[in-house]
Amino acid sequence: MNVRFQLNGKAVQAEVPARTTLADCIRHELRQTGTHVGCEHGVCGACTVIVNGAAVRSCLMLAVQADGAIVVTVEGLSDESKLSPLQAAFRKHHALQCGFCTPGMLTTAHAFLSEEPDADKARIREVLSGNLCRCTGYIAIVEAVYEARAAYRK
Ligand code: FES
Ligand code: FES
Repeated sequence: MNVRFQLNGKAVQAEVPARTTLADCIRHELRQTGTHVGCEHGVCGACTVIVNGAAVRSCLMLAVQADGAIVVTVEGLSDESKLSPLQAAFRKHHALQCGFCTPGMLTTAHAFLSEEPDADKARIREVLSGNLCRCTGYIAIVEAVYEARAAYRK
């Protein structure tokens, strides 16, 4: 099936079998490999991308369901010249180690802070509870997201 959507600000299209997940389409057809695939059944959050402003698990969404949508992956969170405030906060707080979970953490946090820039730490923990990290631990990640809130206030 032919699927067309906007990916990180650019119009893209791919010819994929109907069963292809959005994650596989983005990674294998469109060669944007920043989106990671861990559990492949909606548990780990590594594959999180932003579809029409909402954080979604791209391993649970078919590519054809994204037809006509606006999709943002970790590659689209900043321009190539510098880190976004959220990414810079992750670096400052050492909120990553191997980095496997990081694209999903960043996309989840970006969609979340865009809606709730005044969230407290309890709310941040609640929202990030669906994203698993197996090496850094969560304290530094929560600190980074907390600090980045200022950049999302209008
Ligand atoms: S790979 Fe999608 S939630 Fe784990
Ligand atoms: S930094 Fe390794 S899984 Fe989170």
